[in-house]
Amino acid sequence: MKKIVIIIAGIFVLGLVANEAAKSFDYIGSHKCKTCHKSEKKGAQYKKWEAGPHASAFETLKSEKSAKIATDKGLKVPAYEAPECLVCHVTGYGNGGYETQTADFWAEVTDKGKPTKDVKRMTALQSVGCEACHGAASGYKKSHKKDKALALTQGLIEPTEAVCVTCHNEKSPTYDKEKGFNFEERWKAIDHSTPKAE
Ligand code: HEC
Ligand code: HEC
Ligand code: HEC
Ligand code: HEC
Repeated sequence: MKKIVIIIAGIFVLGLVANEAAKSFDYIGSHKCKTCHKSEKKGAQYKKWEAGPHASAFETLKSEKSAKIATDKGLKVPAYEAPECLVCHVTGYGNGGYETQTADFWAEVTDKGKPTKDVKRMTALQSVGCEACHGAASGYKKSHKKDKALALTQGLIEPTEAVCVTCHNEKSPTYDKEKGFNFEERWKAIDHSTPKAE
């Protein structure tokens, strides 16, 4: 009898683990990371990201260069509305993150006249944000400060080279084939490590 109970309990636990792994998490936006990841002492991740190339990736799609690429490709909509470009220039496109919105959406305000939560979130996803590399954060936002193992089951991703090359590859119209993608070198350009304690 005991054995059967243990086996049933075991199956139940396995089921929970599988369920946790299959769960999908929501993109909450880089602005939600700012309060805790801005001090120099801890590595100023937010400031470094803001000053780096990824924070302006969406704005880049409004440039003349982008307009020319879009025309040459025969796109029917501007680059900043084209799925062909958005997929690598925003956070979580086609995966529950950024979506192209109507003017009515952007005009949504609270009764105090401030942009609604939805508008703020969508604005924050208009870039290659923290979550494009670290994973959608709705699940791990609370746990990751203390318990990395748990956070890894709640959507936190180890940002290895494999994550970078989902965007840094030949499908990018401006990809430099000669140069390729050298992880060590490119990571140096956006390094936001936590300073080692002395
Ligand atoms: C309430 C504070 C808080 C918020 C909000 C927060 N973090 Fe953190 N995060 C921490 C603390 C504390 C650590 C532990 C390391 C440290 O002290 O800097 C950490 C560590 C991390 C790590 C390193 C994990 C590891 O061990 O490899 C990543 C990646 C990270 N945070 C990403 C994010 C992202 C992305 C967001 C926004 C979606 C975010 N954090 C929001 C407090 C926070
Ligand atoms: C979601 C797509 C995406 C992911 C994932 C991504 N990048 Fe980028 N990255 C971009 C885009 C788009 C630009 C161009 C931004 C611009 O010029 O506006 C860029 C630009 C850069 C640049 C500056 C231009 C260059 O080629 O040197 C560096 C450095 C860089 N990324 C490093 C990395 C590293 C390292 C990783 C992985 C840890 C990574 N990126 C992951 C989309 C991505
Ligand atoms: C497969 C991912 C991917 C797609 C799709 C993509 N980009 Fe990019 N884009 C990148 C990355 C990564 C960079 C930075 C490194 C590079 O140039 O490859 C970048 C950089 C750029 C730059 C800056 C280049 C420079 O030299 O300053 C422009 C402009 C640009 N992309 C426009 C577009 C347009 C327009 C589209 C759609 C037609 C598009 N991208 C589609 C990933 C992508
Ligand atoms: C282009 C991809 C990319 C983006 C965007 C990005 N990170 Fe990272 N992040 C990385 C990589 C790669 C590492 C290094 C992982 C390692 O050392 O194993 C890292 C490391 C970290 C660490 C751990 C540092 C340490 O030394 O342990 C924290 C904290 C962190 N990132 C927070 C953030 C926050 C907050 C944002 C947004 C403001 C952000 N990251 C945006 C790729 C990214």
